[in-house]
Amino acid sequence: MERCDALARCSEEADRLTRRYGTPALAEARELVAGWMRDAGLDTRFDPIGNVVGRLAGDGERTLVLGSHLDTVVDAGRYDGALGVLAALSCVARLRERELPFALEVVGFADEEGVRFGTAFLGSAVVVGCFEKDWLGRVDRDGVTLGDAVRGWGGDPEALAAARRRPEELIGYVEVHIEQGPVLDDAGLPLGVVTGIAGQSRAGLTFSGRAGHAGTTPMGTRCDALAAAAGWIGAVEVEARAHDGLVATVGEIAVEPGAANVIPGRAAASLDVRHAEDGVREGAVRALREAALRMADARGVAVAWDEIQATKAVPCSPELTEELAAAVAGTGREAPRLTSGAGHDAAMMSAVTPIAMLFVRCAGGISHHPDESVREEDVAAALDATTAFIERLAKEPS
Ligand code: GLV
Ligand code: MN
Ligand code: MN
Repeated sequence: MERCDALARCSEEADRLTRRYGTPALAEARELVAGWMRDAGLDTRFDPIGNVVGRLAGDGERTLVLGSHLDTVVDAGRYDGALGVLAALSCVARLRERELPFALEVVGFADEEGVRFGTAFLGSAVVVGCFEKDWLGRVDRDGVTLGDAVRGWGGDPEALAAARRRPEELIGYVEVHIEQGPVLDDAGLPLGVVTGIAGQSRAGLTFSGRAGHAGTTPMGTRCDALAAAAGWIGAVEVEARAHDGLVATVGEIAVEPGAANVIPGRAAASLDVRHAEDGVREGAVRALREAALRMADARGVAVAWDEIQATKAVPCSPELTEELAAAVAGTGREAPRLTSGAGHDAAMMSAVTPIAMLFVRCAGGISHHPDESVREEDVAAALDATTAFIERLAKEPS
């Protein structure tokens, strides 16, 4: 818990926690974690995208990977991601003197939230080999390319492809994470076992109209880019409410030129759509694309749709999940099964290895907010269960 507090002090902003990919704040957090890894006896390195990886060798060739992410959203809580990295490190430190038939690795992924470049899971995408080279040309709000950001904190864009891990090297990936929803808190239970992770689509839209004088341009002759975007944002909410379990969010909007007395000539908006079933999500994305064209057309505005990312829903490994559930039960606790609406590095890791996830209750389900909080005894329960899970795997023929 003290380490979570220490990481929370690594921020880009003085009065709130924001730690985006490749920033000095993330570099500082990564150094802290690397130091704690070395103190725990792990062989520690930074990979070419900037993930921090600590390894404890075992008797066998293969590796069980544990981890989560070290980047945050803007004005974040201190447990989303960080707790999973530190929990993994604590479990591995507990097992340090044990002879295990596999190696253990702890990974602090460098970008899961995708706040700086719009692309989520940059860190784990490199580990599983699905990083798309053209992402290197994406620019942040200050005009810095991802390629320069990778180089800027010691990474190597040319080495990303070779950094991928192969399925045959790995036993699995396990992630501890705060639930970020209210189910465990409502049930009065500290832990939950995750059965699967919802898919998500991200897009960027640019509505281009014509800027003009707010006092002299009659309403009938305007091409107001923001009015078109606003109509579309309303349609996003209507679409999401029309389908059970569908969530859709416009979390960013930028208007140009941006003056009270100028008709907006350009409006850029982000879109994030999620559902546990890929068909429902993909249908919603199609409907919202058509809605954007309609809204733009009605106002003589053009709209460009940039599909940034689409991640399919993934099930957790039934075998590892059973082991995890049995490990929790072995500690004398009941843990309900839940699906995750939030995205996790585990979703990416499932492309190369079986995954399992353990959720920890967070108060009121509040997350992506500075009020995010966990109880110390729940974290202790997660450490016991995860350590027991590793011990169970160690007893199995691998
Ligand atoms: C990550 O927290 C996400 O689900 O967007
Ligand atoms: Mn998050
Ligand atoms: Mn997270």
